[in-house]
Amino acid sequence: SSAQEACEPSAYSSGSDDECGEIDWDNLGFGIKPTDYMYVTKCTDDGLFEQGQLNRYGNIELNPSAGVLNYGQGIFEGTKAFRREDGGLFLFRPDQNAIRMQYGADRMCMPSPSIDQFVDGVKQTALANRRWIPPPGKGSLYIRPLLIGSGPILGLSPAPEYTFLVYSSPVGNYFKNGLSPLNLYIEDEFHRATRGGVGGVKSITNYAPVLKALTRAKSRGFSDVIYLDSVHKKYLEEATSCNVFVVKGNHISTPPTSGNILPGITRKTVIDIARDHGYQVEERAVPVEELLDGDEVFCTGTAVSIVPVGSITYLGKRVEYKTTGETVSRDLYSTLIGIQSGLAEDKKGWFLQI
Ligand code: COI
Repeated sequence: SSAQEACEPSAYSSGSDDECGEIDWDNLGFGIKPTDYMYVTKCTDDGLFEQGQLNRYGNIELNPSAGVLNYGQGIFEGTKAFRREDGGLFLFRPDQNAIRMQYGADRMCMPSPSIDQFVDGVKQTALANRRWIPPPGKGSLYIRPLLIGSGPILGLSPAPEYTFLVYSSPVGNYFKNGLSPLNLYIEDEFHRATRGGVGGVKSITNYAPVLKALTRAKSRGFSDVIYLDSVHKKYLEEATSCNVFVVKGNHISTPPTSGNILPGITRKTVIDIARDHGYQVEERAVPVEELLDGDEVFCTGTAVSIVPVGSITYLGKRVEYKTTGETVSRDLYSTLIGIQSGLAEDKKGWFLQI
């Protein structure tokens, strides 16, 4: 079966395949399951990364005064490897993650790996851990490239050494109810990003500050939080883990990536698919009233994929959206999944066979 095939030891495997046999591919969820190898390379003063190597997955050693630990000098990426029915293994637009990492690294004063080196690191990690790529339709191998200031520093300045590391974990759906509609909460106290800040890059510093809002909303039964802009407290930004789209008739709107919004790769792909399907897609400021007045709302992200929103609660009022029958999000999702599984033609060359 494909499940057995997914468990076949790879050329890299050292023979401890038992854990893989214990994996319940039908209930993967989104948690860390240690895989076999991680890709690691370092860079010092010259800004160039050495040739990377695959190490056994495990703890890394860091100086207590590492830039990333003290001053948060770090960015990360998220990308996925998929297995098709014919056994082929594919990455989804890893070059786009490479470009985004370069952009983020510049903002955070870090050197970054070249596009080729980034893609090679992701590819090596996926192949070395290929037995952890779930059977077709059961999920994917989530790949997490990290770029951190690993060198010691005490006075505030860029770290003297950087580490580029890529690890992975098999995953299923991000949200605990799978792809069923999300119940979102619009946050009116905390914000995710500010003008001139780092909301538009995948900085590690964008995530811990929203845990307060996220855990509070989750404890009240919501799936995730939507943030508004911090200046007017009026315009839609994004959710903690994904971008947000609003549908009204044939129009689809999402905030522009002009600083506060993370330029999601699934976001970009969905815009492309939606335009091909004949929708009018606008990247523009979306007032919260318009979000609440939408016919449909959906979220996109590497981890979350494309998920419909069932309800949004704002200032004590809950509005509901269309989630049944023929929906725009289902239409876009089917196209993406069709290409991902190899059933539909990948005209734009989004999937890279490894
Ligand atoms: C991703 O979608 O890849 C992310 O990095 C979001 C994260 C909160 C899991």
